[in-house]
Amino acid sequence: MSKTKIAPSLLAADFGNLQRDVEMVNNSNADWHHIDVMDGVFVPNISYGMPVLKAIQKHATKPLDVHLMIVDPDRYIKTFASLGAAVLTVHYEACTHLHRSLQAIKAEGMMAGVALNPHTSVNLLEDTINDIDVVCLMSVNPGFGGQSFIENTYNKVTALKELITRKGANTLIEIDGGVTSKNAAALTEAGADVLVAGSFVFKSKDPIATIEELKTIAG
Ligand code: DX5
Ligand code: ZN
Repeated sequence: MSKTKIAPSLLAADFGNLQRDVEMVNNSNADWHHIDVMDGVFVPNISYGMPVLKAIQKHATKPLDVHLMIVDPDRYIKTFASLGAAVLTVHYEACTHLHRSLQAIKAEGMMAGVALNPHTSVNLLEDTINDIDVVCLMSVNPGFGGQSFIENTYNKVTALKELITRKGANTLIEIDGGVTSKNAAALTEAGADVLVAGSFVFKSKDPIATIEELKTIAG
């Protein structure tokens, strides 16, 4: 029985065939739909927002894992709850009052996620880890799909796992960016619980088989 979750990132989907690609994920062995919202301010790219998420929600049958790469995310917590987000992840670097944001996300019945940029130390979560359901370690600089995996991520997974264990927290560790069949096993061995994969899944010849491959390798 496989325990690692696989979350295909729809950023790499064919937006002209969004329903088809969402249904592909529905019919696969994936666990979550990963949805990247970018505002062109926090990151140097704009992806999609609420109307597209609404279309995804209409067809998706698995939990929606919404990754907000936006400034001042508190403005939209209620909106994303109403759009069916199961996990709502905000960036550590975008939240002046992170603890307040986490409480607001949980008050809407969602799992609260915190994403860390590659330069942000996991030690900064020392005082909030028990309030966080998912830590998303960015293994690329956020903003674009298809980038190469940053190798220092392994050290961060190990350090984060140690922090979670020491604090007795139940936090899941999610890895986002450059995940492939080459690093999936090492990531789960280091302590990762959720692997996001965009290009590796959607640019492959047979995405359903690729998801299955990741699921098997990750264990
Ligand atoms: C990057 C996004 C990722 C991205 C992953 O800013 O947060 O979720 O879609 O794409 P790949 O797997 O292609 O690196
Ligand atoms: Zn993401």
